[in-house]
Amino acid sequence: MFKTPAPDALTYQSGFGNQFGSEAIAGALPVGQNSPQRHPLGLYAEQFSGTAFTVARSEARRTWLYRIQPSASHPQYQRLETQILGQQQGPITPNRLRWNAFNIATQPTDFIDGLIALASTSAADQVEGVSLYVYAANTSMQRAFFNADGEWLIVPQQGRLRIVTELGVLDIEPQEIAVLPRGLKFCVQLKDTNARGYLCENHGCALRLPDLGPIGSNGLANPRDFLVPVAHFEDQHQPVVLVQKFLGKLWATTLQHSPFDVVAWHGNNVPYKYDLRRFNALGTVSYDHPDPSIFTVLTSPSSTHGQANVDFVIFPPRWMVAENTFRPPWFHRNLMNEFMGLIDGAYDAKAEGFMPGGVSLHNCMSAHGPDNITAQKAITAELKPHKIEQTMAFMFETSKVLRPSRHALECSQLQTDYDACWSGIARTFKPFDPDSPR
Ligand code: FE2
Repeated sequence: MFKTPAPDALTYQSGFGNQFGSEAIAGALPVGQNSPQRHPLGLYAEQFSGTAFTVARSEARRTWLYRIQPSASHPQYQRLETQILGQQQGPITPNRLRWNAFNIATQPTDFIDGLIALASTSAADQVEGVSLYVYAANTSMQRAFFNADGEWLIVPQQGRLRIVTELGVLDIEPQEIAVLPRGLKFCVQLKDTNARGYLCENHGCALRLPDLGPIGSNGLANPRDFLVPVAHFEDQHQPVVLVQKFLGKLWATTLQHSPFDVVAWHGNNVPYKYDLRRFNALGTVSYDHPDPSIFTVLTSPSSTHGQANVDFVIFPPRWMVAENTFRPPWFHRNLMNEFMGLIDGAYDAKAEGFMPGGVSLHNCMSAHGPDNITAQKAITAELKPHKIEQTMAFMFETSKVLRPSRHALECSQLQTDYDACWSGIARTFKPFDPDSPR
């Protein structure tokens, strides 16, 4: 697909939300203005806006691209016969749900073919909400793609990916993530035999770092650890299929030139990657543990202040030192809706049944928490400092209820006995005897 290979070891720019700039040929980035009458190299200037022109400056995201052919050079899109699995919503259910890891197909399946829509809060034409997917692929994309329906947060669980984008190339592996702005053209190549993972399509405000409040000016995901590609282009004049997702449906057209022809660019509407192993996890050094919001990597705010459209939260390796404390995640019933995945190892609230590549869904006010085995162990454990190692779980936490797709509710990966992990919880209640001294 991308015929001009990037070097094995990629270079990146560092920072979050910066006004970045990059040129693959010296002099390709205009100085002092965005749209000169004649570009010195004969490139076309094109603005790529991720927000309305008139939003507050702190919200505004846009990038100027200097490319060989403007994106406008394309014939009509035609709707594809094969669409993404799981587009149809399933029946409403308040039940707790959990899925085994999704299989990787044996027939050639690229990243787009391998998407399965599992749950969504709202249709793609809404200005808030998310749609959540898993992907399982065994073939590099031989086509380019962009998503008109929202920003994509890709969370690999298995297999390394090379993501060729208009603005340059990103390599990610399990325990890293990538965020691709709405509308950015890209192509996902596999660096291993198979690839599997999770995907959050954010229809709302672009993801950003959470405020730190009393934590101060450092900690959680530090801005300098976010990496943005440098300009990398190809000058190819061969037919390329360009697919877009528009209101949930796939449409395709054929270009007569490479869509990855951006020689230089500047702006802040950019793809980026982050290594979750760099997350500076904070927690209690006395008793109890904080709410899991302490593990927020990125957040998309909603119109209700403090209530996220979606939070991306991780549960990384960390020390547990709390005294006189029930250390696993406590039993809880929350307003927010929790879609969890496991990238590696085991999650400290579940002794069994939640495996890497699996998914759980706990919607608004559904009661959940540690399974029976974990709870009983935690009650009797000797409370020494203990490091939870070889683990990386995550959560997409949304303010709107997540409705599973019909496919998600009918597929063979759905566990029919999930509730059983809380059955038979030992009764440990011992009322005080009023006649006995305490
Ligand atoms: Fe929860």
